[in-house]
Amino acid sequence: MLLRCFIESALIAAKDIILPGHKWIIWLEVMRLLEIEDLSVSIGGKQVLKDFNLRISKGETHALFGPNGTGKTTLLNVIAGIPRYTIDGGRIVFKGKDITHMSMDERARLGIGMAFQRPPAIRGLRLQDLIKIINPEADALSILRKMDFEAFAERDVNRGFSGGEVKRSEMVQLLAQQPDFVMLDEPDSGVDLENIKLIGEAINSLTQKDLRPSLRTKSGVIITHFGHILDYMKADRAHVMLGGSIVCSGNPGEILEQIKRSGYEGCAGCTCPV
Ligand SMILES: Nc1ncnc2c1ncn2[C@@H]1O[C@H](COP(=O)(O)OP(=O)(O)OP(=O)(O)O)[C@@H](O)[C@H]1O
Ligand SMILES: [Mg+2]
Repeated sequence: MLLRCFIESALIAAKDIILPGHKWIIWLEVMRLLEIEDLSVSIGGKQVLKDFNLRISKGETHALFGPNGTGKTTLLNVIAGIPRYTIDGGRIVFKGKDITHMSMDERARLGIGMAFQRPPAIRGLRLQDLIKIINPEADALSILRKMDFEAFAERDVNRGFSGGEVKRSEMVQLLAQQPDFVMLDEPDSGVDLENIKLIGEAINSLTQKDLRPSLRTKSGVIITHFGHILDYMKADRAHVMLGGSIVCSGNPGEILEQIKRSGYEGCAGCTCPV
């Protein structure tokens, strides 16, 4: 892990020499999709995110690990624009625009999509109708087939769905939306082994992993506890969150190994740049 950190730091330094001055800055600006700067957030009088920083470039998919209650869902909800949180400081910049105080609708129109950890059921709205509302141009049948979900087309969204079915329903909605930045809050939680593969393939398709890295424009962030899903999808970078901020960043496989070896606290000494 430390060797990897050193190589990554050296590469960043090398780019600085190869692309000096303003050219390097312009390249960074063009490639950057999401930038979170010193974000502090509270809810119900409790501070959850503390001076949180994260940058995600176009074409990158990041994984986020961390113990229960550390603020992972809060982070995604705040990026999505769910209004129940108080922003105490910092900002969120997406596609070069400050979206910190933008409405959820505007953020969705800008290209942010999310699969929720525990989405609500919607009585009276059939899944096939929701697909058409999300994207009138979407080929609902082919999306439902992709997720082996045709049998649920006429059922009310998430109503009576099992835990694993809810996760596939969320993926169907994202495949209809085709967001530029996809946020996945534990899409593998409660999902059986065959459906984890389907969900992994859907995430790869949403994040354009079939294209060469230099051609990808879509990005994502995925929260996962056990990392099984990472056997079926490609994550480029991973972070460990503790106490509302990132304490370690690096290669997803190596970070998972380190968590298994020494726990989340064992990652706190990591010196990788965020
Ligand atoms: N309305 C609220 N009032 C007080 N505290 C809240 C409220 N909503 C969330 N919290 C607290 O914020 C903290 C962060 O919650 P969050 O859901 O972001 O955790 P998480 O990292 O996603 O955890 P998990 O892995 O269990 O999903 C938790 O301690 C939670 O109890
Ligand atoms: Mg959560």
